[in-house]
Amino acid sequence: MTRFLRPGKRQVKHMRPRELRTKIFLDGGNPFETWDIISRLGFLDGQTTNPTLISKNPDAAERLRRGERFSGDEVMAFYRHVVKEISGLIPEGSVSIEVYADRSTPAESMLAQARDMFGWIPNGHIKFPVNREGLKAAARAVKERMRVNMTLCFSQEQAAAVYAATAGARRGTVYVSPFVGRLDDRGVNGMDLIGNILTMYGAGDGHVQVLTASVRKLEHLLEAIRLGSDIVTAPYEVLKAWADGGMAMPGPDFRYPVENLAPIPYREIDIRRPWETYDIRHELTDKGMERFSADWNGLITKRAA
Ligand code: E4P
Repeated sequence: MTRFLRPGKRQVKHMRPRELRTKIFLDGGNPFETWDIISRLGFLDGQTTNPTLISKNPDAAERLRRGERFSGDEVMAFYRHVVKEISGLIPEGSVSIEVYADRSTPAESMLAQARDMFGWIPNGHIKFPVNREGLKAAARAVKERMRVNMTLCFSQEQAAAVYAATAGARRGTVYVSPFVGRLDDRGVNGMDLIGNILTMYGAGDGHVQVLTASVRKLEHLLEAIRLGSDIVTAPYEVLKAWADGGMAMPGPDFRYPVENLAPIPYREIDIRRPWETYDIRHELTDKGMERFSADWNGLITKRAA
């Protein structure tokens, strides 16, 4: 497998803007992109991966092009290798690793994967879906002192359930990832969900950090910074465009272009109820799990899947 250059071989042009409070993550499965973005920005606070992104890693894609696939064990070894490469490039940052979960995966199976994956690197956050089994697994994982990133979040009520299921965890150990781009695709303003969750969490103890995900354009990144999202993860092209533009910050004149997206109204939700009492169903969470599991299974030979 490919080995990559270490940061510092290319001259760093920029440094983190002094007024930037939001952590900047790269969303991707290719360590070369990690190296390249560090070289362009001069810093990187973390990285998120998912099964789709790993299936697009150039080594994996090349293997599929040759008509070869992985066995179940090989694909895990490949994911571990990629994650270790990324982790070595950002040892002070966080690297999110996603468990395999389709709609019938029980919490016990997610937890068993999480225990293994958490041992891959010293700076991992384990991604669980915001469905009932994923929340059950996360509640146990934080008690075992694992760091978690709750993914495929599409509603304020799901974010409330994440807060409640992980109550008692230390700050920085729990992320919630609302997917703004996939909400935009449905004609609603995904960035409203970020603002609504931040407001709702304002009444809490700060143990869950909001990680703006499914970023598709520079304006998503700038609006996440303007709103005060704790973290934003963005694909290579978006971070490259931001770096090429001198890492401009959203100034007082910045207006997020809502275009014709419908607003998502804020709801008063008590975040201190038992997590099982929230209505966490969302069609996009189910669809997202289907897509992630299909992309993962696409890497594996039928016999070994
Ligand atoms: C990151 O954690 C998410 O998996 C990612 O941002 C999803 O992005 P997409 O909606 O473009 O697939």
